[in-house]
Amino acid sequence: MTGRQKVWLVGILILFVNGALSGESRWNRPTPELNAPVKMRVHRSASCSCCGKWLEHVKRHGFQVEDLIEENMDKVKDELGIPKDLRSCHTAEVSGHVVEGHVPAGEIKRLLGLTAGPYGLSVPGMPVGTPGMEMGATKAVFSVIGFERDGRRSVYSEYREE
Ligand code: CU
Ligand code: CU
Repeated sequence: MTGRQKVWLVGILILFVNGALSGESRWNRPTPELNAPVKMRVHRSASCSCCGKWLEHVKRHGFQVEDLIEENMDKVKDELGIPKDLRSCHTAEVSGHVVEGHVPAGEIKRLLGLTAGPYGLSVPGMPVGTPGMEMGATKAVFSVIGFERDGRRSVYSEYREE
């Protein structure tokens, strides 16, 4: 390989890596592996079917789920400090963090790897196409919100159509 070819190759590699990092869509982002199973407590109401599907999703990704059927989800959410406008169906506790609604497992794993990550992650409401809310091939446009107990929040991750 000539020196010139090497320069080209490095250039192409840089472009490729840049493209992969700056791509807006997170759907194809590889999910980090967990070194060991991580325990998760999930609170949900008995009547929620999408909650069960989300449970299967996180189990497939290596979380050890304790499935807790609750009479009063509002009380659970109040106690865990989930801001009212960020609420969804189920609420999970994992490693001192809370996860509200249909948050993709990969985002939770990424949170566990951060030293100064937010207290909680939420996908407010129940957007179609999120894990546990699949309907055919429809992919929702949604944001994962990172939040603190006092209500401060910021966009943690965005999912967009390609
Ligand atoms: Cu749901
Ligand atoms: Cu749910």
